[in-house]
Amino acid sequence: MFYKSKIYNYGSQSISLRDIWEVVKVLRSNWLTQGPKVKEFEKAICDYTNAKYCVAVANGAAALHLSMLSLNIKNGDEFITTPNTFVASSNSILYAGGKVQFADIEPTTANIDPVEIEKKITSKTKGIIPVHFAGQSCDMQKIYEIATNNNLFVIEDAAQALGSEYKKIKVGNCKFSDLTIFSFHPVKNITTGEGGAITTNNKELYEKILMLRTHGITKDFKKFKNDYDGSWYYEQHHLGFNYRISDMQCALGISQLKQLDKFIKRRREIVETYRREFYDDNRFNFLEEKDYSRAAWHLCPLLINFENLKTNKKELFEELKKNGLNLQVHYIPVHLQPYYQSMGFKKGDFSVSENFYKRTISLPIYVKLKNNDIKKIVKIIKRVVK
Ligand SMILES: Cc1ncc(COP(=O)(O)O)c(C=O)c1O
Repeated sequence: MFYKSKIYNYGSQSISLRDIWEVVKVLRSNWLTQGPKVKEFEKAICDYTNAKYCVAVANGAAALHLSMLSLNIKNGDEFITTPNTFVASSNSILYAGGKVQFADIEPTTANIDPVEIEKKITSKTKGIIPVHFAGQSCDMQKIYEIATNNNLFVIEDAAQALGSEYKKIKVGNCKFSDLTIFSFHPVKNITTGEGGAITTNNKELYEKILMLRTHGITKDFKKFKNDYDGSWYYEQHHLGFNYRISDMQCALGISQLKQLDKFIKRRREIVETYRREFYDDNRFNFLEEKDYSRAAWHLCPLLINFENLKTNKKELFEELKKNGLNLQVHYIPVHLQPYYQSMGFKKGDFSVSENFYKRTISLPIYVKLKNNDIKKIVKIIKRVVK
């Protein structure tokens, strides 16, 4: 009998029959896009995070781009972010004409270090983009204090952190920031296929981002600058984009959001199970979960000190692949990307991020993963790492 062994990726979506039915209902309705489901999804995100306003958009990178554009950045304004992130975080600064400054991470959480942020502030600094790595919130109260003392904007990159809590407050609430962005890519905590959202408590930023999502256009006659010509009339006030999300995607998002707490519970159980399974083996370590945090654990980084081992990371990945583990590494420090090196960043600039990169691999973590799968994965890793 042909037996095909299971392949484990680091992340995967969880789609129920209810999710599918909700999308089918939209497909059978009159509105495929720009209809009622977009507003309903935005309201559901506001209800969940307790933020006043939400704009749902095409993806997390678009959410970052529009957030940056809403802040009227001038050429050469500096924004500080972490090198331990996906390139979208820092790219958004460049899209808006800003200059990227990186601040190194804390070794135990791999989140941006507030002490390092302070060192990077200059007279040109206009804002900070803390990234809630792996779904654990940065120390936002500290970061907000630094921002307030220096008159800086804060955009939380919570692409990985929907459902996460900081000091018992849901991430996205914007108590310690101007704007928060989320991503709903299939590996994230909930999915809309592709998708993203911005939350804020600032009405002015909200209204500007709403316009920027659709080419910078408004149909609100109260905002018109020229004479109202008739019911077809609209005006363009900014240079925006088509970053809209569809009603089909938002129907999926609404249905997924209802399951988010259940998803987070399972993600936290999976991390606990990994921790238990690796507990007595000093070759392996995990991120610290801070007292102020209840992490949504989008990722489960396993830290391996390769210096004391025969196996190197490249060989380990090849061996794991042969055993059905198709893993990933989060992240290649952004300052080591050739595009960023061409701006003058170089190896050795952010040693904590570089050391973290050397040690980390992202274990499979997704709702459908069973405890038996976890046991099998742990057994393979323990066998292969020598
Ligand atoms: C930290 C971070 N920021 C931004 C993004 C961009 O999100 P999207 O893929 O939805 O554009 C991602 C996605 O991987 C991310 O992990």
